[in-house]
Amino acid sequence: FEDFKIITTASSVPKRVVDNDELSTMMDTSDEWITQRTGIKRRHVAVTETTSSLATEVAEKLLDQSGLTPADIDLIVVATMSPDYLTPSVGAMVQGNIGADDAIAFDIDAACSGFVYGLKVVRQMLKADHQMHAILIGAETLSKLLDWHDRSTAVLFGDGAAGALISNQPREPGSFISEDLATLGKLGKHLTAGQVGVKSPFADDDVSYSPFFKMNGHRVYGFAVKNVPESINRALARAKLSIDDIDCFVLHQANERIIEKIAETLGAPMSKFPVNINEYGNTSAASEPILLAELIDQHIIKRGDVVALSGFGGGLTVGTMIIKY
Ligand code: ACO
Repeated sequence: FEDFKIITTASSVPKRVVDNDELSTMMDTSDEWITQRTGIKRRHVAVTETTSSLATEVAEKLLDQSGLTPADIDLIVVATMSPDYLTPSVGAMVQGNIGADDAIAFDIDAACSGFVYGLKVVRQMLKADHQMHAILIGAETLSKLLDWHDRSTAVLFGDGAAGALISNQPREPGSFISEDLATLGKLGKHLTAGQVGVKSPFADDDVSYSPFFKMNGHRVYGFAVKNVPESINRALARAKLSIDDIDCFVLHQANERIIEKIAETLGAPMSKFPVNINEYGNTSAASEPILLAELIDQHIIKRGDVVALSGFGGGLTVGTMIIKY
């Protein structure tokens, strides 16, 4: 087993774009506030698209670009916190839509750390079962979880999907260098969404549940600027690498100020931390693969580059994987 290799990447986002000025007509906010605090200028919002339709489009592009057929795919994993249904999983829907009848498929939920957690799962499954090809997708329609009257969360998030076709081709050198994942469940209450209440003739009617996104922004900000650099440093130490060995940091796009602070703490130049949050907002599990696919398309990340993928978010979770692209 030569470890996994990312063969190709692709993304798909809803066509409808909502900029900060349009949001300012719906709630008491402004382009200036949103830009200064977060770096976000606009986001893509689903109109008819669903998490599964976006993820399916990504899977179709991955097959097209790689020249593989649905029959070549052994495993489909979708990282999402905003599935179409509790069951079937988005992964199973993608499997059915593309006709990858021999693949097993399921979802994982690690919120904004979903892509890195997904890479860990896919890597281990390819290794354990001697399978050949997996599709890993981060896909979200967070717009359906937002309270569009709550300016403190509504301006931050966007919809989209992206993913990678991953292979354990024995003839190519593997991608994996090192990883560091952590879950801090005791802090989970600081970021919640989509609460599903107990509902039956026996349930207590007085207990209220909220389906909406709720976030203690200050706590999550503090968590991110402390825990992400620590996670990256642990992953570097495990591989006996220094910060200068990383060509590109693909960080979860939650807030440009968080990324600037992380770069400063690590002592690395912002030029190594590409940002596209201005265009998409925070797309949770989709944010890292959307950025990765763009950077590969633009030849900013090239074969042989050492890339640190790092995400943080609901759970709370944090995760870093260092790979050679
Ligand atoms: N427009 C205008 N004013 C606003 C808005 C808005 N959209 N939202 C809040 N305000 C106001 C507040 O009411 C507050 O007013 P006050 O001072 O009169 O009380 C003021 O702006 C400042 O609000 P703060 O919350 O203190 O603003 P802060 O600088 O902390 O920025 C933010 C808020 C952007 C949410 C920041 O805390 C942050 O980025 N936190 C981390 C979020 C994050 O990374 N989440 C990742 C989650 S990923 C996942 O797992 C899905």
